[in-house]
Amino acid sequence: MAQQQGDNLRHARTGIELRPGLDGVPATKSAICDIDGEQGLLTYRGYPMEDLAVNSSFLETAYLLIWGELPTDAQLQAFEHEVQMHRRVSFRVRDMMKCFPASGHPMDALQSSAASLGLFYSRRAIDDPGYIYKAVVRLIAKIPTMVAAFQLIRKGQDPIQPRDDLAYSANFLYMLTEREPDPRAARIFDRCLMLHAEHSLNASTFSARVTASTLTDPYAVIASAVGTLAGPLHGGANEDVLAMLEAVGSPAQAGSFLDEAIAAKRKIMGFGHREYKVKDPRAVILQSLVEEMFNDFGHDDLYDVARAIEEEAMTRLGPKGIYPNVDFYSGLVYRKLGIPRDLFTPVFAIARVAGWLAHWREQLGANRIFRPSQIYSGAPPRRWTPMEKRAESPAD
Ligand code: CMC
Repeated sequence: MAQQQGDNLRHARTGIELRPGLDGVPATKSAICDIDGEQGLLTYRGYPMEDLAVNSSFLETAYLLIWGELPTDAQLQAFEHEVQMHRRVSFRVRDMMKCFPASGHPMDALQSSAASLGLFYSRRAIDDPGYIYKAVVRLIAKIPTMVAAFQLIRKGQDPIQPRDDLAYSANFLYMLTEREPDPRAARIFDRCLMLHAEHSLNASTFSARVTASTLTDPYAVIASAVGTLAGPLHGGANEDVLAMLEAVGSPAQAGSFLDEAIAAKRKIMGFGHREYKVKDPRAVILQSLVEEMFNDFGHDDLYDVARAIEEEAMTRLGPKGIYPNVDFYSGLVYRKLGIPRDLFTPVFAIARVAGWLAHWREQLGANRIFRPSQIYSGAPPRRWTPMEKRAESPAD
């Protein structure tokens, strides 16, 4: 039942106002990540992102997010070892991936492969800490292998096996490019993963928590989150940013491009955020990683286009609190690393699986199934209409 009150729609029984997109509505309590969108601050379990990005590694950060504290040396070594032991995926998963169309998007391939893991591992022992640990290890270990496998399979090649002597990020780049990466490049990539690992109750994490709240298995939880991340308003924006930079072509075109896009009410990809009203702190760090990457491995002219867009956007979008977000500079790093553009979002998923799993555990710890209400705006109760009396519906 809906009740109109001025511009607001309120639920007739509870009086609660409809907030499209749940803007500003707390939907859970969480101890994992905090964002101060006015100051541009981001912490994981209380640790500032800037501190982690310099001192930590992706696997250590994943451990922190999922279990709440930084691991001891022994805990970290055990976790790294377990992840390394579970990197391989069954030949059945690889064979299934060979049946996927090579023209399909790698996010769809990843969503299907992540969901298929539920066929291999016992379901719904989710009150067993041993099962939870194994599921966490398997998902963190196997998702990069599946992303790299689809890349080779769609080129008509067989996937290559993980290398046990390589650390997490170096191994992923090796499986993807078939070359052992420069250690500096692998470290920059590892830092990118840390920056993308978690970001409170964004759309895909909310999706993960909603799915988790039904007490289904963790593979379904992660598959639902991957599907949500794929959209261009969320993780998919990183792919669109590079297309935009190429279309703009030169720094001199940045201003006119922005004027046209804003006049046509088109969104500038890689700009804007529901939480941040200043430049996303992850974009600040990513920009420094872009520069480090270019110092070590050569410049990319698209960076000049990106900087010009950011500068021109200051006066046009800045007053509305619209600044670069995490997706604006990440693609430039990935491009330099030789990662194909349509793998940028799967790479985001490789990182974000840590945050999703942290939220899965937290949801299970104090679960109540998500079941919000709605404000019905459809037809009033009416009688079934016989065929001969029906008019064509507007959709026809
Ligand atoms: N370019 C131009 N105008 C924008 C942009 C943008 N990127 N983002 C927001 N606006 C304007 C929008 O037109 C609206 O203006 P008005 O009030 O005059 O109608 C106002 O800002 C509010 O926009 P909104 O779409 O209601 O804001 P939201 O909080 O619902 O959306 C967002 C947030 C991230 C979806 C949006 O900023 C956007 O679509 N950005 C482009 C896509 C993008 O970069 N996504 C990645 C987000 S960060 C990483 C991630 O989550 O994966």
